[in-house]
Amino acid sequence: MNASMTTNRRVLSGMRPTGQLHLGNYHGALRNWVDLQYQYECFFFVADWHALTTGYEDTSKLEEHVWQMVIDWLGAGLNPSACTMFIQSHVPEHAELHLLLSMITPLGWLERVPTYKDQVEQLRDRDLSTYGFLGYPLLQSADILIYRPQYVPVGEDQVAHVEITREVARRFNHIYGREPEFEQKATKAVKQLGSKNGELYGQLRRKYQEQGDGEALARARALIEGNARLTIADRERLLGFLEGTGRSILPEPQVLLTSTPKVPGLDGRKMSKSYGNTIGLREDTDSVAKKLKTMQTDPARARRTDPGDPEKCPVWDLHKVYSDEPTQQWVQVGCRSAGIGCLECKKPLIDKVVAEIGTIRKRAQEFEESPEIVRGIIAEGTERARESARATMIEVREAVGLQYR
Ligand code: TRP
Ligand code: SF4
Repeated sequence: MNASMTTNRRVLSGMRPTGQLHLGNYHGALRNWVDLQYQYECFFFVADWHALTTGYEDTSKLEEHVWQMVIDWLGAGLNPSACTMFIQSHVPEHAELHLLLSMITPLGWLERVPTYKDQVEQLRDRDLSTYGFLGYPLLQSADILIYRPQYVPVGEDQVAHVEITREVARRFNHIYGREPEFEQKATKAVKQLGSKNGELYGQLRRKYQEQGDGEALARARALIEGNARLTIADRERLLGFLEGTGRSILPEPQVLLTSTPKVPGLDGRKMSKSYGNTIGLREDTDSVAKKLKTMQTDPARARRTDPGDPEKCPVWDLHKVYSDEPTQQWVQVGCRSAGIGCLECKKPLIDKVVAEIGTIRKRAQEFEESPEIVRGIIAEGTERARESARATMIEVREAVGLQYR
């Protein structure tokens, strides 16, 4: 991939500040971000406003959670010279776009998002019959669309939110991207691509519109975005013409599905802060070892001589995340034949987890000791993010008809 392609492929994702991260968060998202920062232009942010949608009553820990999470990110290897890190509420343009999108978003779209009813059910101890909570996915749409990224890396649980983001973008472009003689202007813009690329654009557009070919869509987009000579207006026309809307002021992003291995908690349920079954990303060695030693195993192995079944044991799920093939074989055979004991089985795992966490803790230490460095990284990231958000908002205001002075 050449440099211009890399810079033109933007990735955006966010995380709610839930306090210190654990191994589930790491393997479910963060580890992936660390890889992505070297492949794309990446924007990663702390979704502190989103934390308020469910945690509006007690905000006393919010600030601490925000900074602790940033330190976790840095410890895990997010590198401020490779990606842009910032805090949502430091870029108030997100809120402005959220407001404008709220004008065109049918209530039914929000009510039908599957996570909505689920969450209201699950968090029954809180009153979530609020405007902000219903609007959660729309705020997320604003977070995304304001940076016009190609990709949004998320796990399965967030796919519906990116889906609604695409619908909202399409609706916005449909309503505000209309202009007189759009087709003629778009055709003229195709000529700006030059004859070879113009022809390629035409072919890819046909492939996408007639066969729904997503690969063709991505290639045509790259073609447009890689062309530095196009005016912004022509770029938006070509994107919109490609997708069959008006001018594409807010291009539709795509999901970059993160494969999320099952990371069990100490009790065998999914690792989650609300279950109190986590291993922290910066936890000290003794505590990690102790937790793993007492971690739930297959109950059939009450005695050392009782054979077990790894499929019924959460420790095995961890081996799948951490252990190489020979070790996994050793576990399979040893467990089923009672050739190894559970403590023995856990030993290589403990070594791996302790080493991983040790690296993270060590990297995090310098940031723990110098909060001003962390604040500096965020301040710089915020400036970069804001510049991009501001540019989008100028166009959005103009498209909506708010450009009067
Ligand atoms: N809702 C996401 C989560 O809970 C966090 C989030 C907020 C986000 N805004 C986003 C993720 C924008 C991706 C893009 O994990
Ligand atoms: Fe689980 Fe390993 Fe014990 Fe088998 S031997 S029950 S896989 S901990």
